[in-house]
Amino acid sequence: MPFVTLREVLADAERGSYAVGAFNTNNMEIVQAIVEAAEEERAPVILQASQGALKYAGIRYITAIVAAAVESSSIPVVLHLDHGTSFEQTMLCLKHGFTSVMFDGSKYSLDENIAATRKVVDVAHAMGFSVEGELGKIGGTEDDISVDERDALFTDPGEAERFVRESGVDALAVAIGTAHGTYKGEPKLDFNRLDTINKIVDIPIVLHGASGVPADSVRRAIELGVRKINIDTELRLAFTRGVQQVVQNNPGEYDPRKIIGPAKEEMKAIIKGKMRLFGCSGKA
Ligand code: 13P
Repeated sequence: MPFVTLREVLADAERGSYAVGAFNTNNMEIVQAIVEAAEEERAPVILQASQGALKYAGIRYITAIVAAAVESSSIPVVLHLDHGTSFEQTMLCLKHGFTSVMFDGSKYSLDENIAATRKVVDVAHAMGFSVEGELGKIGGTEDDISVDERDALFTDPGEAERFVRESGVDALAVAIGTAHGTYKGEPKLDFNRLDTINKIVDIPIVLHGASGVPADSVRRAIELGVRKINIDTELRLAFTRGVQQVVQNNPGEYDPRKIIGPAKEEMKAIIKGKMRLFGCSGKA
């Protein structure tokens, strides 16, 4: 099976100056959409599950579905935990076949974040797996937050240098103006900050909250060192759009396959578009 670590796919991305898409999954149709799109685009891909997704589907289902989907495929696939918040959760994922975990210690002080992340890194590296860390607060949509408050949540470049050096992470998620979920206006990314972080940190940078970020901003972020780009919300919207279309056009339809099947195609179209935008199409 073509499972690889995050460190490996991002090292290739760094050499080729592109980013790899990390798509969130929580059921069979989403896994199939991601893997089929990656196969058709010949793109390396990161499938990621959050703690919520693991709670919803069960870790055994997620790992079994992903294993089945990639069994006959030849593209490099990373199975990654998104926003793990405990040592135990990260270890459980590595035990069950994940090749990479994110430890999100962003709610802690810098010292505590470093110590907690280091603990995960030490074990994950000993097992040959990768770790993504987070510094700064990405959060949900931040409508009522003033510019000063926004700035305080962003990743501090000096702290990033120390965090990366002392925690030993393989990739760093930064807060530079993106947020999880949908945006009301156009997100304004702090490219100067990203540029500074990229110059002093020598590992790949991760952009969370990339759904709804305009293509030009995504391209600029990749130029400035972003190598992993997280997409969840746009897949949820595509799934829902696909289901709604069937239900509205055929109110009498009661075959789940006919209701969910078209949603898979909607998601595939989004994923392929992102892979082309990120520059990872044709790289597998
Ligand atoms: P979106 O909600 O913008 O898709 O972000 C997903 C993400 O960053 C998951 O960690």
